[in-house]
Amino acid sequence: MIVLPKLEDLSDPTFDPFEMEKLSTGDCPDPYPRIHELMEQGSVVEGSYRDQFTEIRDVQTGDLAQVMVLGYDAVMHVLTHPEIFTNREAFLPSLGVSFGESISVMDAPDHTRYRRIFQKAFLPQVVAKWGETIVDPVVNALIDKFIDTGKADLVHQFTHHYPFQVIYAQIEMEPEQGPVFHKLAIAQLLSLIGAPQGQEATQKLGTFFGELLRIRRENPGTDLVSDLARAEVDGDYLPDEVLISFLRQLINAGGDTTFRGTSALLTALLTHPDQLDAVRADRSLISQAIDEALRWEVPPTSTFRYVIQDTEIDGVKIPKGTFINLVLASANRDPRKFSNPDKFDIFRERKHRHVAFASGPHLCIGQHLAKMEMTRALNQLFDRLPNLRLDPDMPPPQLIGHILRSPEHIWVKFDT
Ligand code: HEM
Repeated sequence: MIVLPKLEDLSDPTFDPFEMEKLSTGDCPDPYPRIHELMEQGSVVEGSYRDQFTEIRDVQTGDLAQVMVLGYDAVMHVLTHPEIFTNREAFLPSLGVSFGESISVMDAPDHTRYRRIFQKAFLPQVVAKWGETIVDPVVNALIDKFIDTGKADLVHQFTHHYPFQVIYAQIEMEPEQGPVFHKLAIAQLLSLIGAPQGQEATQKLGTFFGELLRIRRENPGTDLVSDLARAEVDGDYLPDEVLISFLRQLINAGGDTTFRGTSALLTALLTHPDQLDAVRADRSLISQAIDEALRWEVPPTSTFRYVIQDTEIDGVKIPKGTFINLVLASANRDPRKFSNPDKFDIFRERKHRHVAFASGPHLCIGQHLAKMEMTRALNQLFDRLPNLRLDPDMPPPQLIGHILRSPEHIWVKFDT
């Protein structure tokens, strides 16, 4: 029998990284009026996105000149010109410290080389295999826990668990280790605001995944770590350091985003009962409901790039050395591309692709997995919870946050 390694908790097990994360991501209920004001000033506006909403500084940018890129075309331009707008310099002091040599911290040629190997594990036909074997059982076990009560808080009893449990199952982690993994993964990001627990978490996850990888290399199975350890393109394999950094990033890149995206989707549908009824009655609408929810409330409102040669966007000169705040949330609500952009409307004309998964070389590698998980989650909720609706005795869901957005609660009722 294979004995899997044990993940060590933080030396202060009472430390709660989720509370600190909330401080950093903020409690702004609606950043969009400010985002629209900024967009009216132009596609490129001086300053930092975070500074629009909070006094809390991060350690990433120091004294660098910063601009916000806001319009859809301008955001697309930055995403698709990696030779000018780089990830390496943008993320090395932040994600590089938290995760190590992750693909988010790389530019070509390393990025191209390693990404094509990772990609093999996340192609649509590959992730499809996890639908029945992993996603459905995880989703159903969570629903089983509250189905008899006729009511639930879908954040605390559902969305805040299922994508993480999917990841635990993908790497065949023992379920009781899951909460420690989740906690350490969130704690890693606190390096960004200078908390010492950030580096402790990074180091402990590194030790754990290093050992897990060694075991999987010796005894390959059907889990994701074995798949990635075996993945190769033209005889090229992933180095341990790159693979371990990817696993460190998985909860944040894959779990947290899908948790928030599903919460936004449920919030949107439940607060628009006509559209909820339409999707419930015709499940072929689920795909466009997911796309519209991700456009309307992109879970990570912004990302970053760094300018390595003097350039210009929309007539605005941007010197080499500028730190770019790439505001996906404003691109997704650019009125020049999406009419009545603040409205959630699954039937809107879809002339332009949203940028919730970004674009260009760093386009989200997990987008097919995320959409598959969200589709299965919604189908199971509809199938098993008849007449799912907001609980009229409780406050309606309210998305909060200016960097990462999601609601605290989604209180619902259903027939039993
Ligand atoms: C609704 C869910 C998700 C959203 C909204 C989302 C969003 C994004 C965005 C915006 C980026 C690009 C960031 C940038 O270029 O700066 C990205 C990249 C990435 N995502 Fe996702 N993501 C989601 C789910 C997932 C899942 C399930 C995985 C699991 C594998 C994943 C793994 C990654 C990785 C590894 C990258 C880096 C790709 C690269 O740099 O080449 N994501 N994601």
